[in-house]
Amino acid sequence: MFVCICHALNDKKVKAALDQGATTPASVFRHHNCQVQCGKCVPTMRSMASEHRAVLAQQAAANTTIAAIAVAPAAVPCCGTAMPEPANAEAVPAYAIAAE
Ligand code: FES
Repeated sequence: MFVCICHALNDKKVKAALDQGATTPASVFRHHNCQVQCGKCVPTMRSMASEHRAVLAQQAAANTTIAAIAVAPAAVPCCGTAMPEPANAEAVPAYAIAAE
């Protein structure tokens, strides 16, 4: 699907720019060495960039949760000494279950 008719930028080219760090329509244009002309594509690019950022944020949140679970100490101490909870204990499901 063409997103920008003026520069023949299709959705794959826009996604490629977003994947390589572009975050705004202007940075998508810069990535492809062009500038906005008529501007009709800008709302679509803006929405694609917003969706891309949302996906990246979801992935980052998922990775943070996985990392927190991976480093979480056991809920029941093995040697009778309680281990300190991490600062983000309430965000880790294992701690919520242990607190019940
Ligand atoms: S359609 Fe993109 S600048 Fe015209």
